[in-house]
Amino acid sequence: MNIPELLDRNKLPRHIAIIMDGNGRWAKERGEDRVHGHYEGVVSVREIVDACGEIGIGYLTLYAFSAENWNRPKEEVDALMELLVNTIRKEVDELKKNNVRMHVIGDFESLPEICRVELNEAIEITASNTGLNLVLALSYSSRDEIARAARLIAEQVQAGKLKCEEINDELIGRHLYTSGFPDPELMIRTSGECRISNFLLYQLAYSELYFTNVHWPDFRKPHLHEALLNYQQRERRFGKTSEQIQTNQPQHVQGNEE
Ligand code: IPE
Ligand code: IPE
Ligand code: MG
Repeated sequence: MNIPELLDRNKLPRHIAIIMDGNGRWAKERGEDRVHGHYEGVVSVREIVDACGEIGIGYLTLYAFSAENWNRPKEEVDALMELLVNTIRKEVDELKKNNVRMHVIGDFESLPEICRVELNEAIEITASNTGLNLVLALSYSSRDEIARAARLIAEQVQAGKLKCEEINDELIGRHLYTSGFPDPELMIRTSGECRISNFLLYQLAYSELYFTNVHWPDFRKPHLHEALLNYQQRERRFGKTSEQIQTNQPQHVQGNEE
């Protein structure tokens, strides 16, 4: 295993979330079509999934397609959907073998039928795996996710099954797509943009944010290790003082686990 000696295995995040950005710019720099960058981005996905499995990360959430990405040129959207289908088809056996369990968050119904079929199959095939949980954010909008949770909760109040006083942070968390997953301790965004772009707004409340200029197709194992080393050097204070933390260092923020 290729894990840098410096990495403290007792201080790893349980959940890493990644905004895989920069495929288009990577391709443009090479005088190629944007879609070429997306193809090459899949190679990084494979490597990062492997790396997370190797290290023993519990959850990896990859922002693969935002709700806003539907507004891109039709040719690019079509190419991305096709790439998704082909990649899932090609990788599902390997995921199964590597004990990876697949999940999808986002507006599943808005995806083309062929994607839904492939994704459902992969989710089913990998359902009994117990290693890395690979969460694909597809047609995902965090604001829509929160609005959906509000709607689900309001319906229960309206039906008399829930009292307004019972609505709290934990209950909201249980109505998000990510219900049952710990909150990400580390969020990585590649390609230099320092923004969240409607990704896991609620879940990232106390995440450590890591931004790198490396474009996603160039982001490989050593870059992930670098991000983890950087994460391990941070002091997570959760509102407390540094002195309080040094006597009792918490490793994780409370998520919405079942
Ligand atoms: C990320 O790369 C992939 C998706 C959003 C699907 P981009 O396609 O956003 O690449 P840039 O940001 O234009 O370079
Ligand atoms: C965010 O990247 C979405 C994904 C990586 C899937 P974008 O490239 O769409 O984000 P903006 O538009 O630059 O904020
Ligand atoms: Mg982008």
